[in-house]
Amino acid sequence: MAKITIDGKEVVVEEGKTILDAARQHGIRIPTLCSHPAVSSWGGCRMCVVEVDGSPRLAAACVMPVRDGMKVVTTNENIITARRVVLEFLFAERNHYCMFCGASGDCELQALAYEYQMDHLTVTQSFDKFPVDVTNEYMAIDHNRCVLCGRCIRACHEISGAHVLGYQNRGTHNLVGFDLDDIRGESTCMGCGICMQLCPTGAILNRYRTHHAVLGHDKTKWKVIDSFCPQCGLLCPTVSSVEGNFIVKIEGKTEAQPGRPDRGQLCQKGRFEPLKSAGKRLLKPMVRDTNGGWKEVSWKTAMDLVAGRMNTYKDGGTFGLASARCSNEELLLFRDLMVKGWHANYVDTLHGPAYTSLTSAWADLKKVVLGLQEASWKQIAEADKVILVGANPGESQFLISGLIRRGILERGVQVTVIGPVDVTAPWTTHYLPVAKGKEPLVVKALLAEIMSSPHKPVHLKTWDKIAAEIGKVNVTDLLKQAGLDDEGREAFRWAARWYMEAKNPMIVVGNNVTSLPDATGLRQTMYLALLRDVVQQNTLRLVVLKPNGNSAAALKMRLATEKSSVEKAATWKRGLVLLAGDDLATSPFLNHLGGLEFLAVISPYFPEELADKAHVLIPKPIWLEEEGTYTSLDGQEIRYKKAVVSRPRGVDESWQTLLALMQRSEFHPTYARWRDLNAKAEEELRPGA
Ligand code: FES
Repeated sequence: MAKITIDGKEVVVEEGKTILDAARQHGIRIPTLCSHPAVSSWGGCRMCVVEVDGSPRLAAACVMPVRDGMKVVTTNENIITARRVVLEFLFAERNHYCMFCGASGDCELQALAYEYQMDHLTVTQSFDKFPVDVTNEYMAIDHNRCVLCGRCIRACHEISGAHVLGYQNRGTHNLVGFDLDDIRGESTCMGCGICMQLCPTGAILNRYRTHHAVLGHDKTKWKVIDSFCPQCGLLCPTVSSVEGNFIVKIEGKTEAQPGRPDRGQLCQKGRFEPLKSAGKRLLKPMVRDTNGGWKEVSWKTAMDLVAGRMNTYKDGGTFGLASARCSNEELLLFRDLMVKGWHANYVDTLHGPAYTSLTSAWADLKKVVLGLQEASWKQIAEADKVILVGANPGESQFLISGLIRRGILERGVQVTVIGPVDVTAPWTTHYLPVAKGKEPLVVKALLAEIMSSPHKPVHLKTWDKIAAEIGKVNVTDLLKQAGLDDEGREAFRWAARWYMEAKNPMIVVGNNVTSLPDATGLRQTMYLALLRDVVQQNTLRLVVLKPNGNSAAALKMRLATEKSSVEKAATWKRGLVLLAGDDLATSPFLNHLGGLEFLAVISPYFPEELADKAHVLIPKPIWLEEEGTYTSLDGQEIRYKKAVVSRPRGVDESWQTLLALMQRSEFHPTYARWRDLNAKAEEELRPGA
């Protein structure tokens, strides 16, 4: 530990910390600009200069390490003058006319100018006109507002692991660029927005919220609400700034979160999508008349109509489809209403066929070995070898792709990709390019290769059962069937060897395998995981990507099972669809919802795709407007989310709407209060239940 003095106050800090760390630890403010606690410091801007041991040469507090006995002064006339000079040059080097800037009122540079009472420049302005890049839907980059602090670049490297941003050009033409001088829209930028979150000026702007702080959204009135995003199952912590009932911005939580490896990254689903409207809000119940037009009706009329049309049948033609983005409580109510209240013979999620083989693969695995469960997605952050089987986490669980990228660059993680797209290019160690659906052939070949090699596991209790299922296979033939050329076959052999030599391997399996109606491919992927020891407490080295945020809860509640199939839609006559946002458009069931006797839809938005198919529409809040619990991707965590903003007047909470329908059915639940419903959902979904 080092004992130092800051502004006359004696403080004790760990050796190796910087003066800025020490000051922050003890509540002493030093102004900063290029430094941000979420990324490394580089001492670029010199706003944080302080006096050390009376030396006239000021030091940058963000990079200067403490030394025992050091005496630091954070403010005196010299220091203030130096910081003002820094600020003046920053303002003079680019166009920082705040009144025209989209970040005015919410800008660190502007705030520093106010703090140092910089009301005019004493140096001549000298800057060229730089481009403004608006080729991304969510973010604009205005190089004229950039101070080249590099926070965005370090965020892209250190938090997202994307390494897309970097400096380009020299001298006064130095810019933050994408890849090799691309525009953002044509670069490899994935649009996660962490660069925007760390940008201290208006250089990287949220296109859905420009001028937010001056358009009546006074920063001093913002409420800051800690929550999380339930959209993909990783339950990423969020910090929402809200004024009144308006969400000004949503940011990732960059402070270290116990047990979470994500460093504050969010994806577009969590950061941007809630800021834009996903369509016309449905605010009143509506009924389609005989001419095909929609008219508003009372809640009682709509609920009675739905109950009347759904209640009376037991002929097997009743179905229910729910979005797996709904909360645990909504899914529980929906299932009980459909199964126990209305005797539906088909209940599923909108994307049930995407994981149709999952339930039966787990059931099959139980016949080989008991008590195994899926690994936590967080364990990917500790793996030294990752095999992606028909999985593209960049599309479904963006943060997982970031963990893998960071693993490759920071820890030398080896990655094998089995599937049609090289999802970690250009860093993949072994790429086995096979067409969608052919991945199981490579998995089977891997099993056979490993089991016949010197690397085979010696003490595996389940060996005989796996060997019996694999039988005698010709690995070369399997790889040929899969379509691998010589290069692919060579990569395959290395992948097999490295998988067995790895200390902590992890397999990530995705949609291409889980959506196959035959569960053999997924089961054999589980065997492949089983060839290595379990991670801990019977946890298989396997993470299964699922299409929606609460898919794990839907699976556990048996809302989505091996019976998921669009072919079953041929028997449907009447049904209820529960939506949570915009995932109807990508549902394989969408084209099977026309021409039904009766179709009721509960949705936050007017469902345009069903405008000529549905008969009754009932409104519900969006996920930000109501409370509920959500289950993580791996089923191992249940978190409670409160409402971030209020729901529209006259729109009931979803659980109350579903309960009101249930009370009109044959089934009368024991959980008529929120507390009981919440406890019931928890009881069913608790890990290990
Ligand atoms: Fe320390 Fe920029 S904040 S040099």
